[in-house]
Amino acid sequence: MISRNAKLLFYLSLGPVMGINGWIYRHLRAPRAGASGVHLGPGQKTYLNGWINVDANCLTARCDVWADFRRPLPFHDDTIPAFYSHHVVEHLPDLRQHFHEVFRCLIPGGVYRVGGPDGDSAIAKFVAGDNAWFSDFPDVRASTGGRLDNYLLCRGEHLHILTIGFLTEMLLDAGFEAPVKCLPTKETRHPELFSECLAVEWESDYDFPHTLIVEARKPRPTALSD
Ligand SMILES: C[S@@+](CC[C@H](N)C(=O)[O-])C[C@H]1O[C@@H](n2cnc3c(N)ncnc32)[C@H](O)[C@@H]1O
Repeated sequence: MISRNAKLLFYLSLGPVMGINGWIYRHLRAPRAGASGVHLGPGQKTYLNGWINVDANCLTARCDVWADFRRPLPFHDDTIPAFYSHHVVEHLPDLRQHFHEVFRCLIPGGVYRVGGPDGDSAIAKFVAGDNAWFSDFPDVRASTGGRLDNYLLCRGEHLHILTIGFLTEMLLDAGFEAPVKCLPTKETRHPELFSECLAVEWESDYDFPHTLIVEARKPRPTALSD
């Protein structure tokens, strides 16, 4: 795993260039109509064909657009039918800003499928003392508390603990409607939008999943009645 200091240095030195690159993409290349879905943070292994894959990591990740999610997303208002992110939002300092940005870019009726480390499962497994639920990544820890710290904070890489209550609160605050929890076992309310995404998700744990996934929709304007 890349050290936290190396990442800080990366964002400090390349952040402004990424900002310019995102601005140029948004104003010269971003689709205005008929866009495909946007995949935020594919990393090295989960590039989605047919989607616009966006990542800050220009060194080892595979992406179509190089941009920093801490800045305004490089898309126009009301243009993107679906956003997908998997184990990304817990890395962002300002969740409120992120969900508002995704909401801005989605078309009315568009959907965000967002997932990250499941805080509810992790806390339940900590209380139950179930060491086996946790892994040795990024550090080998013998105690349940150490393993909880590993999972939730990931050596300081994660800036948020994602629970269903918290994600629902943030999504509603941004204006989304009907946030729905989906199991990471390829469950979705929108197979027409997310079938390619399900192909890169990997979990089979129904009872205490490691990934918390929520789908939420941007409301369509309601018809005015007289
Ligand atoms: C833990 S990886 C997840 C990769 C993949 N989605 C998966 O589930 O295996 C997080 C990804 O988010 C990207 N990322 C994190 N913070 C970001 C930011 N501020 N702007 C753009 N990309 C970011 C990282 O570069 C990395 O590719």
